[in-house]
Amino acid sequence: MDTQPTSQYLGDGLVMRWSTPADAPNISRCAGRVYNNSNSPTLNEVAMARTARLLRGDSPFMSPNDFAIIIDASQEDQPVVAFAGLWKHTIRYDGIACPVGRLEYVGTLEAYRNHGLSRKLIEFVHAWSAARGDLVQILTGIPWFYRQFGYEYGYDRGDIVSTLINAIPKLKDGDLETCFLREANLADVPTLIDLFNTDRNNSSLWLDMPSGFLEYLIVGHQHSRADLRLDHTHRVYVVMDLPLWRNAEGRIVGFVVASNQRQGGVLEITHVGFSEDLYIPDVIPSLLRAIHAAATSTAVQGNPGLTAIQWIIPASSRFRAALPPSLTVPSTTEHCNHTYFRVPDLVRFLCSVVPALDARLARSRVYKSYTGKLAISFYDRHVPGVFIAVDRGRVVAVEELARGLEGNARFPPLTFLQVLFGRRSVGELKHVFPDIEVASPEVEGLIGELFPSGRSEMATFFT
Ligand SMILES: CC(C)(COP(=O)(O)OP(=O)(O)OC[C@H]1O[C@@H](n2cnc3c(N)ncnc32)[C@H](O)[C@@H]1OP(=O)(O)O)[C@@H](O)C(=O)NCCC(=O)NCCS
Repeated sequence: MDTQPTSQYLGDGLVMRWSTPADAPNISRCAGRVYNNSNSPTLNEVAMARTARLLRGDSPFMSPNDFAIIIDASQEDQPVVAFAGLWKHTIRYDGIACPVGRLEYVGTLEAYRNHGLSRKLIEFVHAWSAARGDLVQILTGIPWFYRQFGYEYGYDRGDIVSTLINAIPKLKDGDLETCFLREANLADVPTLIDLFNTDRNNSSLWLDMPSGFLEYLIVGHQHSRADLRLDHTHRVYVVMDLPLWRNAEGRIVGFVVASNQRQGGVLEITHVGFSEDLYIPDVIPSLLRAIHAAATSTAVQGNPGLTAIQWIIPASSRFRAALPPSLTVPSTTEHCNHTYFRVPDLVRFLCSVVPALDARLARSRVYKSYTGKLAISFYDRHVPGVFIAVDRGRVVAVEELARGLEGNARFPPLTFLQVLFGRRSVGELKHVFPDIEVASPEVEGLIGELFPSGRSEMATFFT
C-alpha cells in the first residue's frame, strides 16, 4: 500500500481520516484546547504554533498529510476532536538503517475522552506506518498508556543535568578564550552533520538527524507562514576554535543547538557535536561563557536573567562525560527520559539487521565460531516466537518459531524489546521478571553477544 487509507466512519457523526493542509487551523485549535490546563478557557498558544508549523509543509519530520484526525461531523463547525501525528525517522541498529515511525502529538478533547478515540487513531497510525515500510515505531510519552498498544521501553537517555551560571568559571586576567560561538548559516550544515555523526559508530542505537533538520532550525522562521512570536524556537551555533595568532581564521570544532524560548531562567541545549580530535575539556569554560553571552544577547523581553544551562542530551555522550561534576547539578525537566519501542513484526525486523548480528558475533571472543540455535518464545500463544539459527558465527536463518514450541529462551510479552534494543541485559531483567527463563548459560551468553546492552546514545529531535 503506498497511499494513505481513506476515511472511516466511526458512528455518532465521527469521521477518522488523514489530514490535509486545509485542516491546519482546525488541528491547531484542537491542540490548543487539549494541551491547556483542564477546564481553562484559554488555549495553549505554544502547542497551537507547533502543530501549525508541523502542518505548513516544511517540517523535517512529517508532511501536512501525516496527522490522523477524528472530526465530529455532527457539529456545525466540524471540529477536530482527536489527533495523532506520525513522524518519520531512521534508526541505525549498529549501523544498519531502519525506517521508523514516531507517534508524536496525541490528544483527545476532554469531552470526547474515554470513548476509545485514541485507540482508534493509534491503530490507524500503526497500520499506515507498517504499510509505508516502517519496521519499528518509537515515541516518548505519558507513562504506561502506550504499553496498551505494544510499546516497551528500549532506551533511556539518562538523567538531565544543568550547569548553574554562577558556577561557570570567570576568565582569568591575561588568559585567552579557547573557543567562540557564531550563528550557523546554511553553508555550515554539511560540516555540522559530520560533527553530529562523530560518535555514530560507537553507539548500538542511533537516531539519524532528519534530513533538512538544521536548515529548518536556521531559516525556518523565514517561512511565509511563520509566527515570529513563537517560531524560531531553536538557534544553531557553530563552535570555532581560536588560534593563538588571533588574525587567522578559526576552525569549526563543534556546534550547539540552543532553545530560543527560555523556561524561566533556564536555557535548554538540545544538541551538541564536537570534532573527534578535540579534547572537549579544553573548550568547556569558554563554551559556557559563550553560551551565556549569546543567550543574554538574544533574551526575549520580559524573560528573567539566565540562571542555568540545561543539557537535554544523552548522559552517555562524550560532552556529558567531559562536563566536570563542579559544573553539573541534577535537573528536573518536562522532557521524558525514556523512549518506547514497538516492533510489529519481530522476524521481519531481525532479518533486516542480520548483518549487525553477524558483526556482533564476529567481535565476540567466545561466540565468533559458534553453531547453535536460539528459540525465543513469549508464553502467550497469540504472540509468535522467533527462531534464530547460527552456523559458525553467522546467522543463517531467522524465522517464526512454530506455534506451541517452548523455545530455549522465554520472555513475558514485550520484555524482550528491552534486550533487543540494549536497554537491559537478560541478567538484569531476570531480577525484575523471574519468569524470564533461559535454558542454559550458553544460550544466555549467545543472547548477550547478539543483543549487547548499554552501548547506545540516541539524540532526541523535536521542534
Ligand atoms: C491520553 C489521551 C490521549 C487518551 O485519549 P482517549 O481518546 O481518551 O483514549 P481512549 O479512550 O482511546 O483510551 C484507550 C485506553 O486507554 C485508557 N486511558 C485513557 N486515558 C488514559 C491515561 N491518561 N493513562 C492511562 N490510560 C488511559 C482508557 O481507559 C482506554 O482503556 P480501555 O480500552 O481498556 O478502556 C487523552 O486523555 C489526552 O488527550 N490527554 C491529554 C494530552 C496527553 O496527555 N496526550 C498524550 C501525550 S504523549
